[in-house]
Amino acid sequence: MQSFDVIILGAGAAGLMCALTAAKRGRRVLVLDHADKPGAKILIAGGGRCNFTNLECAPERFLSENPHFAKSALSRYTQFDFLEMVTRHRIPYHEKKLGQLFCDDTALRILRMLLDECHDGAVDIRLSHRISDVARGDAFRVVTDKGVFEAPALVVATGGPSIPKMGATGFAYDLARRFGLPVVTPRPALVPLTVAEDDLTLMRPLSGVSADATAACGRTAFRENILFTHRGLSGPAILQISSYWRPGEAITLDIAPGTDAAAHLIGRKQARPKAELKTVLAELLPTRLAQALAEQRLPQGAMATLTDKALRAAGDQLNRWQVVPSGTEGFAKAEVTAGGIDTRALSSRTMEAREVPGLFVIGEAVDVTGWLGGYNFQWAWSSGWVAGQAV
Ligand code: FDA
Repeated sequence: MQSFDVIILGAGAAGLMCALTAAKRGRRVLVLDHADKPGAKILIAGGGRCNFTNLECAPERFLSENPHFAKSALSRYTQFDFLEMVTRHRIPYHEKKLGQLFCDDTALRILRMLLDECHDGAVDIRLSHRISDVARGDAFRVVTDKGVFEAPALVVATGGPSIPKMGATGFAYDLARRFGLPVVTPRPALVPLTVAEDDLTLMRPLSGVSADATAACGRTAFRENILFTHRGLSGPAILQISSYWRPGEAITLDIAPGTDAAAHLIGRKQARPKAELKTVLAELLPTRLAQALAEQRLPQGAMATLTDKALRAAGDQLNRWQVVPSGTEGFAKAEVTAGGIDTRALSSRTMEAREVPGLFVIGEAVDVTGWLGGYNFQWAWSSGWVAGQAV
């Protein structure tokens, strides 16, 4: 049996941040992970350049059953605090768009920074350890295939089940249930949406076509690109709205955002009476999309032959295209997991379980999910840091 002050399960973004923070406070920290390398998701994030935070990070940009929960951690360790560490390590970065910060060269720089800080604090990181049991007596006892470890504080940082082929598991939920912590049903988020056959007939041949659009669900809307896929819809606006979408609901696409499409088409009838509708639509939309919509969903013919009523209906199709997704592409393709360990069971200041002193949960395992664009890493850093201050 080996003893530590803190055992952290999971050597991902949140676990490493918690480890280096606790180690700076003089804690003897052990990090255990079943993977053979740490921080796998950091390395693949942002196409290998890691969108590590967002300048516009704010609690309203996170989903949770308790929308207030994330405020404390996000305000105690902000995007600017993380940026200070990135700058101190001389990691070159840039803002791509919408406040999203990426490494100039490689995500490896972020992982190396975290590992260097852990190394400076003598954090003991042990990989390829299969955890078979976690029990609580006077201290927490973690049984693995390579030894038994003990500590008075245990931090669960094993993430969510998105992208299982990368070693992601629902381990945190099993552990939570075991210690009596409720779990908000996990669901795939930031995930492509699938559509039923009638929409697919239109969308499948458009696979690869992208368009500027607003995607809305209820009162939430995002304007960015949408991308047609062989299974339905993807692209940043769709990934964003997928986190808000629930099965059975419709999403509304505006594929001519900022333009009153009906007024535009009626105006073009005067200006280009002999032009085909699909030609006029191509002034607003990518050509293939204009063609497909005109051929499959809209009246055919020269503009002069189309009534204003028909053009208004066509404009409606562009500004208010209702799609009822059949589902999502699931955890296999989800960038994150929404839902997770219920925040009601945790202190928002420390991430410690209210009823189980010494047990902490951080990162994606918790029912806090950020928008696309660096928000989820910021949650990992913030929740990891506050727990690291408390363990
Ligand atoms: P994370 O998943 O990082 O770490 C969990 C760790 O626990 C892993 O090392 C895993 O091996 C380990 N583990 C799991 N089960 C275990 C078990 N049973 N026993 C032992 N260890 C176990 N976010 C963002 O802000 N910007 C971005 O650019 C991206 N890009 C991105 C791309 C892709 C393809 C994905 C899948 C995700 C993103 N994300 C993102 C999301 C981001 O990666 C995610 O929110 C964080 O990695 C969550 O950090 P955690 O530390 O909570 O979990």
